[in-house]
Amino acid sequence: MKVLHYNQLVLAITLTFMGSCFLNDAQIDPTFGFVEVMLNETNFEYQKPYDIPLDQRYSYQNGTHRFWVYADDKPHYLGSKTQPRTEIRLLPDYTSGVWQFEGLAFVPNGTSGATIVQIHGAAHGSTTIILRIYDGDMRYYSTPVIDTDLYDKWFKVNLIHDVDGGKVTVFIDNQERFKTYDKGPGMLYFKFGVYAAPRNISYYMESRWKAVKIYKKC
Ligand SMILES: *[C@@H]1O[C@H](CO)[C@@H](O)[C@H](O)[C@H]1NC(C)=O
Ligand SMILES: *[C@@H]1O[C@H](CO)[C@@H](O)[C@H](O)[C@H]1NC(C)=O
Ligand SMILES: *[C@@H]1O[C@H](CO)[C@@H](O)[C@H](O)[C@H]1NC(C)=O
Ligand SMILES: *[C@@H]1O[C@H](CO)[C@@H](O)[C@H](O)[C@H]1NC(C)=O
Repeated sequence: MKVLHYNQLVLAITLTFMGSCFLNDAQIDPTFGFVEVMLNETNFEYQKPYDIPLDQRYSYQNGTHRFWVYADDKPHYLGSKTQPRTEIRLLPDYTSGVWQFEGLAFVPNGTSGATIVQIHGAAHGSTTIILRIYDGDMRYYSTPVIDTDLYDKWFKVNLIHDVDGGKVTVFIDNQERFKTYDKGPGMLYFKFGVYAAPRNISYYMESRWKAVKIYKKC
């Protein structure tokens, strides 16, 4: 009879435990240890093509924000060279600490080349992170792919920005999908909605959002 040495036994138990973690695809609550930052209408700043009223590109019904924009829409202010957008920019700005965005998102089939959520501001470049939907997949900027097959269903997005540690983590449906260095400190804020990518965009772009919250680490 083969007797396991203590070290082998510990290793066997550890591997079993790790294996079950992976098999179960362990879910966690990304907001654990965070406190909610209360938001009201004063925390929302709407950005939309400058030449049309908000209600032609945005609606809010039953707790759901719906944003849409067309590839040939105007930018958000006259003279801007940026791509068309309909977005909510969340206040307050933050410059340090650990902050978290949370929301439930829905992207209809057909929307492609659209940033649906981002952290604006950075020491290098204008954004810390951009999450775009291309053909139903979510990408960090143009690459890499973070998650797939997201059309026509609600999915939960959590973005944690550890400004002091210089890291950003993305969770989809409570599973960690991506982690990266940020692009340095700055005047930072979360935005969600639709913002056209520079290339490969569908003519019509839409995202819906509900239960949007901001948290801060205690
Ligand atoms: C909305 O939030 C702001 C900032 O936190 C606060 O100063 C203001 O009193 C709030 N307004 C209402 C109506 O709750
Ligand atoms: C909002 O809710 C009402 C009542 O449940 C429902 O009749 C309506 O269709 C909903 N509207 C949208 C846009 O979901
Ligand atoms: C999206 O729409 C296209 C064209 O109608 C269809 O071929 C495709 O299967 C759809 N994708 C999903 C995930 O429903
Ligand atoms: C745009 O789409 C073309 C064709 O699918 C692809 O070769 C190219 O890499 C894409 N460009 C970007 C920036 O995603």
